[in-house]
Amino acid sequence: MYSREDIKKKFENFVASYNTEEYVVRHKREHSLKVADVCIDIAKSLNLSKSDCEIAYLIGILHDIGRFKQIEIYKVLDNNSKLDHAEYGYGLLKNGLLYDFIDTREYDDIILKAVRYHNKIKLEYDLSEREELFCKIIRDADKLENLQRQSYENYELYKVADKNAQISDDVISLFYNNESIPYDKINNDLDRVVNRIAIIFDVNFSYTMEQILSNKYIEKYLKRLELVGNNKVIIEKMNKYANEYLKDKLKEINDL
Ligand SMILES: [Fe+2]
Repeated sequence: MYSREDIKKKFENFVASYNTEEYVVRHKREHSLKVADVCIDIAKSLNLSKSDCEIAYLIGILHDIGRFKQIEIYKVLDNNSKLDHAEYGYGLLKNGLLYDFIDTREYDDIILKAVRYHNKIKLEYDLSEREELFCKIIRDADKLENLQRQSYENYELYKVADKNAQISDDVISLFYNNESIPYDKINNDLDRVVNRIAIIFDVNFSYTMEQILSNKYIEKYLKRLELVGNNKVIIEKMNKYANEYLKDKLKEINDL
C-alpha cells in the first residue's frame, strides 16, 4: 500500500487536470482531503488497525472523485443532476483509476462499495461486515465534514433566500420519523435546512455524534440562516428534537 503522503500527491495530480480556478473544484479538493482526515479520526476511535486506517483514508480521498467530472460537465454541484457522482466515481475507479492509488487488489471490493454507496439515502445493500464498516465510516466522515463546514462557511448555497418558504408536509413527517430527507422531496430553501438537520438520523458512530454535539455544528449553521417568525420557531423545535435524538443514541451506544 502507498503511504498517505503518496496517496495525497496522486490525488493532487488528479485534481490538477481540472480547472482549479473554479471555486467548486477547489472546494471539492479541500472537502476530499478533510473527509480523508476525518475517516482516519473515526477509524482510530474504533481502534482499527494501521492498515485499516489507511484504507479509510484512501476511501475518504476517493469518495467524491466522480464530482470532478460532474463539475466539468454541469458546472455546478447539483445533487439532482442525472449524473450520480458516486456511481460515476465507482465506474472510473473500477475501470482502472483505483490502480493508480493502491498497488494491491485485496481491498478493491471494500473501496469500490464504500465510494459507490457513500451518498445513497440508506445503506440497504448486501454487504460483508467489513464492507459495511467502511461504508459507514465514509458516510459519517462525509456528513461530519459537511456539517462542520456549513457551521462557518459563507456560501450562498446555504442561505435561506425565500423568507416565506414553508416546510413541505412530507419533509416534516420524514423528519419526525427520524429519517433522512431524499433530495427529490426538497421543494424549497427551508426543506433544505431540514434536510441538513436530518443528517443526524443517519450517523453511525459515537465519535461522529459526540463531534456534532460538542461542537454545536447544527446550532452554528442555523444561526447563520437568520430565520424569522414561525419558521424560526419550527426549526428551533426540530433542532431540539435532533439534539435529544443524538443524546439518546449516544447513551444507547455507551450503555451497550
Ligand atoms: Fe463528500
